Amino acid sequence: MQNFTYYTPTKVVFGRNTEAQTGALIKEQGGKKVLLHYGGGSVVRSGLLDRVKESLREQEIDWVELGGVVPNPRLSLVYQGIAMAKEEQVDFILAVGGGSVIDSAKAIGYGAAGEGDVWDFYARKRKPLSCLPLGVVLTIAASGSEMSNSSVITNEDGWIKRGYRDDLCRPRFAVMNPELTMTLPPHQTACGCTDILMHTMERYFTSAETMEITDSIAEALMRTVIANARILLEDPRNYEARAEMMWAGSLSHNDLTGCGGDGGDFACHGLEHELGGLYDVAHGAGLAAVWGSWARYVYRDCLHRFYRFAIRVMGISDTGSREETALKGIEAVEEFFRSLRMPTSLEELGIHPGAEELELMAKKCAASAGGRKGSAKVLYEEDMLAIYEMARQRSRL
Ligand code: NZQ
Ligand code: ZN
Repeated sequence: MQNFTYYTPTKVVFGRNTEAQTGALIKEQGGKKVLLHYGGGSVVRSGLLDRVKESLREQEIDWVELGGVVPNPRLSLVYQGIAMAKEEQVDFILAVGGGSVIDSAKAIGYGAAGEGDVWDFYARKRKPLSCLPLGVVLTIAASGSEMSNSSVITNEDGWIKRGYRDDLCRPRFAVMNPELTMTLPPHQTACGCTDILMHTMERYFTSAETMEITDSIAEALMRTVIANARILLEDPRNYEARAEMMWAGSLSHNDLTGCGGDGGDFACHGLEHELGGLYDVAHGAGLAAVWGSWARYVYRDCLHRFYRFAIRVMGISDTGSREETALKGIEAVEEFFRSLRMPTSLEELGIHPGAEELELMAKKCAASAGGRKGSAKVLYEEDMLAIYEMARQRSRL
């Protein structure tokens, strides 16, 4: 095992009607004037935004609001939010929504607390010194951004999607009412389940030595996500399944399932970020579209983990051949994705990049990772290109 620091300062308030506590939670953090940030309208239609405003009113907290965050959140809206936050002298940001809203709020938090271009942080030109405090009312179980130190923003100038990680942006609190996720379209629920599964898989498939306790937690989490995703397919209003998924989403990306590891592989996330930047695909669907090709490309270099995963997570019986068993595990994951109507190729994702586009994405992916990425197998630009090529059509054995 490796040395590690585990830091999860976010206060979690979980369960039915918890959004009514939002105002009190902001007051507890010393917030007096809030930038209320949200997406394309689901929180308006569901009535959630009104309920949150009511809880701010009860605590005599002022607010200004900025909606309009889109999936793969844009830098231009972040700039607007920074200008607004400065002009209105807000001292707290409240994200009401999913990963895109939370990530946009984090970027606004960095920008509003300092000077200069906030994109510098995402372009690795400099590091922020502070971030406005922020809180979250979560509406989709997926990104884990409600407890993570990460923010992913898309710069329309070049359509570059980049993540930046820093503990400064960890939310002060996260309100999680599983009922709020019941208005999600089935496709978004499925994308969320896929992303949650992937956050632990990215940490699990590693060539480093790990810890048994972490591996066991990770395996339990992955089994729970798969089982409850299946329940939600049939019964989207099942509160228990929504709750399991929501809590799994946070635990899957707050580093619990990576303690003692090497930071994980995260190559699929790198490959997806290029797809999201160029083609504006949903993050979870993009991950599903490349995972099978990635897994087939790397599994021989990380056979012991793929073998263990097949048996302990996907319930495959040992065939007597580690390689064959591992491959059956990969097939079972793809079968699971298909059952959720998630794509397992770029074609099924609905995009048809030509050779030039694939080369461009591989180049950008390698460059953003400093030339190499991955732990199950270290990937260079040519490997990334090979995986994109495999993913173009449904990957085959
Ligand atoms: O904009 P609205 O109208 O709210 O609609 C959203 C959006 O269209 C809708 N939605 C959310 N909650 C809903 C709802 N519709 C009905 N009822 C509800 N309760 O769902 C759509 C997707 O929302 P989005 O916030 O984009 O989803 P998600 O949470 O999956 O976030 C995706 C973004 O997070 C990034 C991704 O790259 C992507 O940009 N990630 C952030 C991470 C982090 N900060 O730690 C880690 C992840 O790996 C990921 O990269
Ligand atoms: Zn993700």
